[in-house]
Amino acid sequence: MVRLNLSQESRVPTGIPGLDPLIRGGLQRGDFVLLIGGLGTGKTIFSCEFVYNAALTMDEPAVFATFEEDIRSLKRNMMNFGFDLSSLESKKKLKLLDLEALEGRGLSSNIQVLLEAMDEIKAKRLVVDSLTAFLSGTGEKFDYTFMMHLIYKTLKREGITSLMTASRQFSKSGNRETGVEEFVADGIFQLESYVTESMETRTRFVVRKLRGTEHDRTYHSLVFTPNGISILAFSG
Ligand SMILES: Nc1ncnc2c1ncn2[C@@H]1O[C@H](COP(=O)(O)OP(=O)(O)OP(=O)(O)O)[C@@H](O)[C@H]1O
Ligand SMILES: [Mg+2]
Repeated sequence: MVRLNLSQESRVPTGIPGLDPLIRGGLQRGDFVLLIGGLGTGKTIFSCEFVYNAALTMDEPAVFATFEEDIRSLKRNMMNFGFDLSSLESKKKLKLLDLEALEGRGLSSNIQVLLEAMDEIKAKRLVVDSLTAFLSGTGEKFDYTFMMHLIYKTLKREGITSLMTASRQFSKSGNRETGVEEFVADGIFQLESYVTESMETRTRFVVRKLRGTEHDRTYHSLVFTPNGISILAFSG
């Protein structure tokens, strides 16, 4: 009898060097991953690489919605790694949205803007940097939870693979506050900064959860290279 391994078949590479082997070859289409980490741990660069490589080499158009950096400085900063965002934009493979600039229009209209942008370029991927800022338009806790589930279900239905960032600080034991998004997300990728014996600040990476995937659970090193970031075996 021929047995199909469907979960294996539908894996989509992340576009982050060194990450796919840790998660059985990639994400499942429609996965919603939360990228949590402290200040300056590489969340924005990671997110950019996630959409840039997919749009460039996998024919997966992507929407990148930012609250954190204006688009001009984002483009300039990403050029340091050779990510030519403007070129992908002009080929309709990438749509950058500065949701901060639309401030005051409210969460539901921001969601509308996102959906229209994804429709326009037939996006297969979405980044929201950061989810914390994106959802800050909701007042009540109920709304927040409701919106999170609504966004989750919409992206699943459309088969959009998404990565959203959230700032979290970690105590030495690795503990942190937990939001509803952690429970809703299919996956949690965690970035933590730490200090080496030689007093150098570095970032380590770990997959905290990924539904339907027997993933690696050990810390790895996140390193900055001229081509972006890579995940390597932990080097202390
Ligand atoms: N060209 C570079 N080479 C090496 N490291 C770099 C380079 N550019 C940025 N970095 C490192 O990446 C960090 C910023 O990365 P990024 O903006 O992705 O972090 P972040 O987690 O999104 O930060 P924030 O919390 O401010 O949103 C810098 O603080 C710096 O340590
Ligand atoms: Mg950032």
